[in-house]
Amino acid sequence: MQSYPKFAACWGCVAAFVFAFTVGSAAADRVNGQRIAVRWCAECHIVESEQKQGSDRVPTFAQIGGSKRFDEKSLAAFLMAPHHSRMPNLSLTRSEVTDLLAYIKSHGR
Ligand code: HEC
Repeated sequence: MQSYPKFAACWGCVAAFVFAFTVGSAAADRVNGQRIAVRWCAECHIVESEQKQGSDRVPTFAQIGGSKRFDEKSLAAFLMAPHHSRMPNLSLTRSEVTDLLAYIKSHGR
């Protein structure tokens, strides 16, 4: 069978494509989350490691992402809630929250 190796290689392509697509879309969420964070959160929070200045006594995204106190569910609930003690009402959409979570969680280690 001459054509068999070609056929097998083709399935390899499909698998590689599907894998790249899955990984790629998670990365897209994170990149979008970073964009939202820089725009809406960086005024008070340190949202990336290069950022020098946030507000005093505001947790950095690295601290939040690394915190045991926050799993994705409680973070999502926190971000969707309309009132916070010292945080402004951010009125984020579900998809913005999802993207932010992907970004914040990428900071935890
Ligand atoms: C005007 C300043 C300000 C902005 C803007 C802001 N925050 Fe906050 N944030 C705070 C303060 C202050 C706290 C400390 C907790 C409190 O008292 O509410 C906090 C706490 C948090 C916490 C909880 C941390 C903890 O350990 O309890 C999360 C999560 C959070 N912010 C996420 C965000 C995200 C995501 C954004 C952008 C969409 C954002 N914040 C924008 C001031 C801000």
